[in-house]
Amino acid sequence: MTALPPARKLVEVSPAELTARLPEALALYVNAMRYPRGTAEQRAPMWMAHMTREGWRCVLALDEDDELVGIGYGYHGASGQWWHEQVRHGLTLVSGPAAAQEWMSDYFELTELHVLPSAQGAGIGEALLRELLAGVSSPRVLLSTPEGTSRAWKLYRRVGFVDVLRHYQFTGDPRPFAVLGRELPVD
Ligand SMILES: CC(C)(COP(=O)(O)OP(=O)(O)OC[C@H]1O[C@@H](n2cnc3c(N)ncnc32)[C@H](O)[C@@H]1OP(=O)(O)O)[C@@H](O)C(=O)NCCC(=O)NCCS
Repeated sequence: MTALPPARKLVEVSPAELTARLPEALALYVNAMRYPRGTAEQRAPMWMAHMTREGWRCVLALDEDDELVGIGYGYHGASGQWWHEQVRHGLTLVSGPAAAQEWMSDYFELTELHVLPSAQGAGIGEALLRELLAGVSSPRVLLSTPEGTSRAWKLYRRVGFVDVLRHYQFTGDPRPFAVLGRELPVD
């Protein structure tokens, strides 16, 4: 059982349930990432497409009024997906095809994890992450995050994520990213 601050709860939602809350969820995402207005509209079709992928799993953190304060989701990574192909390419170049195969043959891609800025720093992100991963059947999880010293980094390290690929540039994004991963389950 994951400890949470008082008056907060974690709920797993179906694609239909997230679709019903999509504007709220995308507003939270844009707010947490400090992205410009308009990003939400751009991302909506992508989030909808993700919901159809095998192994899609989403957990929401809600406050006492059932308002959304956090969201985490991901799905089973597979050949042909943009992120999968980008990471496989980078990992093959840096670590060789055997390492790429080992990490990427059966994994859950943690795609999004966000907490409302006003609710950050209280353990909600970690609780969301643990709850999301607790229901994953793949033997490992992978994610990408911008290089730096963000709260996300501290969280992933605390939960045992290790370096898979560092300072990687995804096509079309000038920022260096890290790909982190860990075996599942998380204790
Ligand atoms: C990354 C993110 C999801 C983490 O969520 P969070 O709720 O802020 O982070 P955590 O659950 O790790 O909170 C732990 C912090 O709360 C503190 N805390 C207070 N009470 C706590 C409790 N009961 N349990 C655990 N931590 C507690 C910890 O000391 C820690 O503080 P620190 O990060 O300053 O060291 C969130 O900061 C976020 O949305 N960031 C912007 C978006 C983003 O970067 N997403 C990831 C993209 S890859």
